[in-house]
Amino acid sequence: MLNKIEHVALAVADLDAAVTHYTQVWGLEVAHRELVADQGVEEVMLRLGDSYLQLLGATGPDTTVAKFLERRGEGLHHIAYEVDDLPATLDSLSARGVEMIDEEPRLGGRGHMVAFVHPKSNHGLLVELIQR
Ligand code: CO
Repeated sequence: MLNKIEHVALAVADLDAAVTHYTQVWGLEVAHRELVADQGVEEVMLRLGDSYLQLLGATGPDTTVAKFLERRGEGLHHIAYEVDDLPATLDSLSARGVEMIDEEPRLGGRGHMVAFVHPKSNHGLLVELIQR
């Protein structure tokens, strides 16, 4: 069902400072930067092998990432798994009683279809499923 870890996402307080840190200290390269206005988030993808590290910055105080930072501080936000067939994966999870944040696939960053799994029915981990 799951192909690989597509990205690991970190919520950061200062996106530009975090990009500087990960490029200069860790030597990663920026592959993509995108403002997802309707989600209130700006995301930067740093290539790491054939996966990515994703840095998430909030676009304003009343956004989900800003609330996450207020509650939990900087750090791990979610892990994204790549799947071949997102609708079939969602059906399979629902049939097993897993609570979804997105019942249906929706358009995410980089034009991929995505859906989020609620952490409370997943032992505390927010999971994003991605179909390329
Ligand atoms: Co993500």
